[in-house]
Amino acid sequence: MLQEKNYIAIRNSQINYYKNVGLYYAENGSFVLYKPPGKLMTDLRLEEERHPPELYIHQQDRIVAIKELQAGFNRHISRSIKTGNVVAVKSTLCHLVEETLTEPRSGTLQALPETVDTLVSGYSKNPEIIKTFASISFKDYSTVIHSVNVMALTLGFCFYSKMSFYETKRLGLSALLHDVGKTEIPEKILRAPRKLTRKEFNIMKRHPKLGEYIIRVKSGIDGGIARGALEHHEKLDGSGYPQGIQHISFVGQLLGIIDCYEALTNEERPYRRAKSPLDTLKLLKTDVEAGKFDRKIFEKFCYSLV
Ligand SMILES: [Fe+2]
Ligand SMILES: [Fe+2]
Repeated sequence: MLQEKNYIAIRNSQINYYKNVGLYYAENGSFVLYKPPGKLMTDLRLEEERHPPELYIHQQDRIVAIKELQAGFNRHISRSIKTGNVVAVKSTLCHLVEETLTEPRSGTLQALPETVDTLVSGYSKNPEIIKTFASISFKDYSTVIHSVNVMALTLGFCFYSKMSFYETKRLGLSALLHDVGKTEIPEKILRAPRKLTRKEFNIMKRHPKLGEYIIRVKSGIDGGIARGALEHHEKLDGSGYPQGIQHISFVGQLLGIIDCYEALTNEERPYRRAKSPLDTLKLLKTDVEAGKFDRKIFEKFCYSLV
């Protein structure tokens, strides 16, 4: 008898994306091959739902399955940009990032440059849309939604600053990946409904270095992209972490400002209400006055929001 833990249930909305992995159904405690690898489910079968209600993939196929899903999501994002469905773009992007972050050490991050390329090409002629992106909220605020929002705000900044395509894509990708190290921080710390204890915060402070390692070493994405992950919690007065440096890369400085702005405006916690954009900018301005953030980058970011 096959063991249930070796099989993972898939979402029905995603069945059509799986080609190179086999799909299975459960019968009397066993798992039976339903769709062999190398074949797609036919549209007719999907439309008429002529398939078992619950389908599974084998645990061994997990990485191939994630890559097929990412490719399918990328196609869907591209189509939704063309039809102007910005909510579909954002929700598909969140699904894509969510899948990607389940196995970030297994090369799954490599699908994301294509995603960012599609977004930058799709929205560069209509940058107003990317501004609305961060305000489309979904019920469960998570690292995934935060990362997608930080990326959208970063692209808004790049479009406003008339940066080159190349630079815009690099900064967008860096933004999307800035918190990837959080995938290795225990869930109970990430979701603690209260302020973190000193011990918990020290564990949380590991995420920039972990992120840099996952991006640069584990995924082979160039080091410039990983700087954003490594330095987004550094402050110009040296009071940040993990290294307490005062010479921070541009991407580290920009993401530091946008990361704080996004978290304060969107993240609602039992002990802290989300703030309005204006109140948040006022608060960040005091950090500029205190020498923590660069004034020019901050001002440019403010203008990019208008
Ligand atoms: Fe972070
Ligand atoms: Fe963040």
